[in-house]
Amino acid sequence: MRIGIIGAGHMGSALAQHFTRVGYEVAVSNSRGPDTLRDLVAELGPRARALTAEETARFGDVVVVSIPFGRYHELPSDSLSRKIVIDTCNYFPERDGHDPDLDRDRITSSQKIRAHTGSNLVKAFNAVYWENLRAGSRPKGAPDRLAIPVSGSDEDAKAVVAGLIRDIGFDPVDAGNLGQGGRRHQPGTRVFGAKMTAEEMSGLFHAVRR
Ligand SMILES: NC(=O)c1ccc[n+]([C@@H]2O[C@H](COP(=O)([O-])OP(=O)(O)OC[C@H]3O[C@@H](n4cnc5c(N)ncnc54)[C@H](OP(=O)(O)O)[C@@H]3O)[C@@H](O)[C@H]2O)c1
Repeated sequence: MRIGIIGAGHMGSALAQHFTRVGYEVAVSNSRGPDTLRDLVAELGPRARALTAEETARFGDVVVVSIPFGRYHELPSDSLSRKIVIDTCNYFPERDGHDPDLDRDRITSSQKIRAHTGSNLVKAFNAVYWENLRAGSRPKGAPDRLAIPVSGSDEDAKAVVAGLIRDIGFDPVDAGNLGQGGRRHQPGTRVFGAKMTAEEMSGLFHAVRR
């Protein structure tokens, strides 16, 4: 499976490191162009390459979108259409500018990106601090293996993403669909930024659902 990563900052770089480490072919991109990613690609090794965002979208069987939410309309929607997209983005109005629909919680940031891209979008990795992502990988069964909440409305896509999360040393926890489920791991929720095991996080989601 080939993984494209649009956005090569804190989160995108950490994910690229994990995915190359476990053997996936990875393409990374940013807004300034592939030439600015030479150092990162050298660090990532032979399984990595830098492309434009549009090329990255075409390259990936799965494409991670990890950019400031306020720039989502710049994503190459034609090439992301129908792809499995992993959305790590969060809406922070002070950084992204105000979006009245999001401020009134009429829709979620992930649903906006899904609508723009026409992708099969799964929300994941948005709730883990990048340093915990970079350094938190643990073998299956380790008592301190961290949980990653995942939401999406397509069960098959969610299963693919859950497998990728396990591959890189974390435990996926299903939060539900992209609407109510996605709201369970947005900024301001108890799981956001928290270091929890899968058992702790599942218990919390279960309690909230009752
Ligand atoms: N930092 C965290 O701990 C954390 C944790 C969970 C989720 N998140 C969320 O994940 C997203 C990324 O966070 P981050 O901390 O990794 O941000 P970051 O370090 O600021 O990196 C953002 C990346 O996005 C790229 N980018 C911006 N606009 C783009 C576009 N139109 N096309 C392609 N690439 C574009 C930037 O490239 P240029 O530099 O070339 O513009 C940069 O590589 C955000 O939505 C954030 O809220 C962050």
